[in-house]
Amino acid sequence: MENSFDVAIIGGGIIGSSIAFQLAKRGRKVVILEKDRVACQASSAAAGMLAAQAELEEDGHLFQLALKSQAMFASLSTELVEYSGIDIELVNKGMTKIAETEEIALDIKKQVIFQRKWDPMITWLDAKEIRVLEPSLSQSVAGGMYLPNDGHVQPAKLTQAFAKAAEYFGAVIREQTEVLSFIFENGQVKGVNTTNGVIHSEQVVVASGAWSAKLLRESGLDIHVYPVKGECFSVRAEKQLINTTIFSDKRCYLVPKRNGEIYIGATMIEHSLDNKVTPEGIATLIERATQLVPQIKEAAWERVWSGIRPQTADGTPYIGEHPNWKGLFVAAGHFRNGILLSPITGVVVADLLTGKILDQNELSAFRLDRHKETVS
Ligand code: FAD
Ligand code: GLY
Repeated sequence: MENSFDVAIIGGGIIGSSIAFQLAKRGRKVVILEKDRVACQASSAAAGMLAAQAELEEDGHLFQLALKSQAMFASLSTELVEYSGIDIELVNKGMTKIAETEEIALDIKKQVIFQRKWDPMITWLDAKEIRVLEPSLSQSVAGGMYLPNDGHVQPAKLTQAFAKAAEYFGAVIREQTEVLSFIFENGQVKGVNTTNGVIHSEQVVVASGAWSAKLLRESGLDIHVYPVKGECFSVRAEKQLINTTIFSDKRCYLVPKRNGEIYIGATMIEHSLDNKVTPEGIATLIERATQLVPQIKEAAWERVWSGIRPQTADGTPYIGEHPNWKGLFVAAGHFRNGILLSPITGVVVADLLTGKILDQNELSAFRLDRHKETVS
């Protein structure tokens, strides 16, 4: 079995798969090492919203990166069909960010002014206008911000499409292969030890989601990535209940998928690495969702699931090279926006690994040593 590669990527989630695709397309010999299966963790649990402007409310490097990534989806969707045969189910029917009280309405109206700098199509809809767009909304809704250009994808399909497209360009995928440790020599990474033997490579990318911090501790770096579990459920209605994604706050959203399912998420349980779905979590979501769209009560139950988001201490992902070990890179901590950020992360990491000169000011927000703390 081949065990020498240009780049070894640890983690077959959406981030590792997107990086593999971009590197393989540039002719690098890449292997993805995945301890379980491709798209088995957060990347298949996500709702798939590309919600740069609903999730991120302040300008900054992360917000600008998210806008760039969001703009990549239309052409990416065509490109991935060509190389993987998979349709990522991109839906571009917009999002409505709901205000349920006058106080929240005031806050969202301020967001409308801010967000229109990047998309002049974003508007405020009052209680009457919003019901023209979404007649099933509860009478309690005071209005909302309409984002006509916000879309969503099927996240497991996007992850599989990245991985398959990477294979099309020659990447190798090793599932059921856990990385146990790094091999270092004279300040340079030389490969990794796995449950299926040694892999030699002078470039290694840690893209292991919520598990990244544990792996990196032996390299002397504490990157402050921690798990935040999210539980979801889905229903299917006889008639189309909602037209856009309904985003209430960071604890409840309803996403009408192309196959007729409505995804409803999601809880936020910090420091939980188990995938258990609890009646309490789902009961909270049902209560929130039916306050927004009462007819959800009558829809047909479909399924429940959960996933582990990789959060960081400052809410910003880590993207960059290890400060002490040449050739060791990290792309982890994408928290609530890893699906949205996956295309641009793939490109930025491939640029870094192939020596392209990048704007250091833009990248500084994502540096691995920004907390200046190392462990010994
Ligand atoms: P993961 O998908 O977790 O992949 C990491 C992979 O690494 C796993 O497959 C794991 O098995 C593997 N691994 C770990 N350790 C090792 C090792 N030592 N050796 C080999 N393999 C290893 N984002 C959005 O943009 N939009 C959304 O609407 C959205 N909704 C979400 C809803 C929920 C309920 C959740 C949980 C998340 C949501 N997210 C959303 C966030 C998004 O899912 C994550 O940010 C993203 O999936 C993280 O991708 P990842 O590749 O870093 O991690
Ligand atoms: N971005 C939605 C979530 O993480 O639940």
